[in-house]
Amino acid sequence: MNNSLVVITGHSKGLGKALMHHYLNKGKFDVIGISRSKLDFDSPRLQQISLDLADLDVLKNELEDVFPRGDYKEIILINNAGWIGEIKPIGSMHPKEMRVQVNVNLLAPMYLTNAFIRAYKGYPAKKLVCNISSGAATRPVAGWGGYCSTKAALAMFTQVANKESGTSEFRFFSLAPGIVDTDMQNEIRQAAEQDFPELKKFLEFKEQDELANPEEVAKKIEFLLSNPERFPEVTQDVRQYEVS
Ligand SMILES: NC(=O)c1ccc[n+]([C@@H]2O[C@H](COP(=O)([O-])OP(=O)(O)OC[C@H]3O[C@@H](n4cnc5c(N)ncnc54)[C@H](OP(=O)(O)O)[C@@H]3O)[C@@H](O)[C@H]2O)c1
Repeated sequence: MNNSLVVITGHSKGLGKALMHHYLNKGKFDVIGISRSKLDFDSPRLQQISLDLADLDVLKNELEDVFPRGDYKEIILINNAGWIGEIKPIGSMHPKEMRVQVNVNLLAPMYLTNAFIRAYKGYPAKKLVCNISSGAATRPVAGWGGYCSTKAALAMFTQVANKESGTSEFRFFSLAPGIVDTDMQNEIRQAAEQDFPELKKFLEFKEQDELANPEEVAKKIEFLLSNPERFPEVTQDVRQYEVS
């Protein structure tokens, strides 16, 4: 038995995949990855769960299995799965996509955080929840109505969880990863300029090589979660600290 466990949603691509590899390389972690697709990658310390986080009825039935008991000294949940959603001004959004986005970006991490606390309350381990946020949680971006709103709501949910837990057993972080070179950024660059006035800026980020590397960001996230005592605030941004 390894003595640490990390559950990572959205492990099949981008930042989540980099987090999965980073934690597996640390040696002491068992990793549970949750995405719709499974990676063609095997490790005795990796369990992949194929789940559509937009399907909350299925998620609800899986919750008990996602958080195993075991001889763990440290248990981490990283709610990383997210979707930029339809990039359209409000008034042109489609209800079906709006619902999927709220489920994936907000309700699924709320369900998982709730189930995590329920599963591990009183369990003698270091326990951390890291909800991946975004600058868009505090900055309104035209075309990103669903994305900004879900990230803002998740950030508040994380603050409330922290307030309720006080200084006790759990730590909660709402962590912005910066602008990371993943498929999500690629999706953003495919938007139509009339729907997304900031398109040019995002095209330039890529052209000028200003996107952060997912592996570097994963390393910074793991650093924060390994040293929570150095980060007293719930709201964090990887661009605000260096790995020492
Ligand atoms: N990239 C950035 O610049 C940036 C900036 C700020 C914040 N973020 C946040 O960082 C996190 C990771 O983003 P990323 O850039 O790595 O995105 P990404 O490359 O698009 O990867 C998204 C991950 O989420 C999973 N996912 C999406 N919909 C899902 C669903 N319905 N059910 C289960 N899993 C689902 C995907 O897996 P499957 O497709 O296999 O399901 C994939 O593993 C997100 O929360 C995002 O909002 C990213």
